[in-house]
Amino acid sequence: MRYPVIIALDPPTEEEPVRWAIRVIDSLGSGPAGYKIGLPLLVRAGKDGVRDIASVMPSNTLKVADLKLADIGPVMVLTASIAVDAGYTHVIAHPFMGEEGGLEELAQYLRAVGAGLVLLVAMSNPGAARYFDQFVDEFVMMGSRLGAWGYVAPATRPHIVRRVRSLLSMTPNPAAKILSPGVGAQGQRPWAAIKSGADYEIVGRAVTRAPDPAEALNKLYGGSGVLPRRGHLG
Ligand code: XMP
Repeated sequence: MRYPVIIALDPPTEEEPVRWAIRVIDSLGSGPAGYKIGLPLLVRAGKDGVRDIASVMPSNTLKVADLKLADIGPVMVLTASIAVDAGYTHVIAHPFMGEEGGLEELAQYLRAVGAGLVLLVAMSNPGAARYFDQFVDEFVMMGSRLGAWGYVAPATRPHIVRRVRSLLSMTPNPAAKILSPGVGAQGQRPWAAIKSGADYEIVGRAVTRAPDPAEALNKLYGGSGVLPRRGHLG
């Protein structure tokens, strides 16, 4: 069974990061729709390490670099190119840098190399809500202008996911993807974000820290064996 899940590969400090990530991927294979690396893995494993990790991800999976970029355009391009050169297909960036001198340049670079821009439009932690939530609508419209492939919106706050899906329906790319972290360790139930309009749920520790990650993924998502329809709960 293939689940609409992206596995966050954040290695525990006591583990050797490359071996740990490869072990998790070997256990899960094409079960999840994708895998996501972040700074804890990139910093510890380096470019060669994350390239080795990307090379064992099945070819039909998304390879997301969660760099949460927030810098001037040329520097975001420099950083993104490390992940793209290492085999990653999608890059996550913060929206607060704005377009001019910032995200425009990043979007242009990613388009040129055939990679997808994923814009963070809200965070899953309660503290960030105070700031991000004021700008969700503007960020979605910004992503639309930039030709973003997808958006990150929190599974922990389904009304935001519904809002992003509804705003996207008014843009030229209503099928843009929504990626939702917050399931499992951060408290949200599996499928909650999908039912609210997300395309993928991002899951880390609830699967990767289990003794048998494949069994944990099946247990979390495979209960009914039936894929709920997106937007089922409105
Ligand atoms: P856990 O272990 O909590 O891992 O399932 C969640 C993963 O998702 C990332 N994360 C976020 N990324 N916006 C993001 O772009 C968010 O609001 C957010 N919350 C969690 C986190 O870095 C980890 O890899």
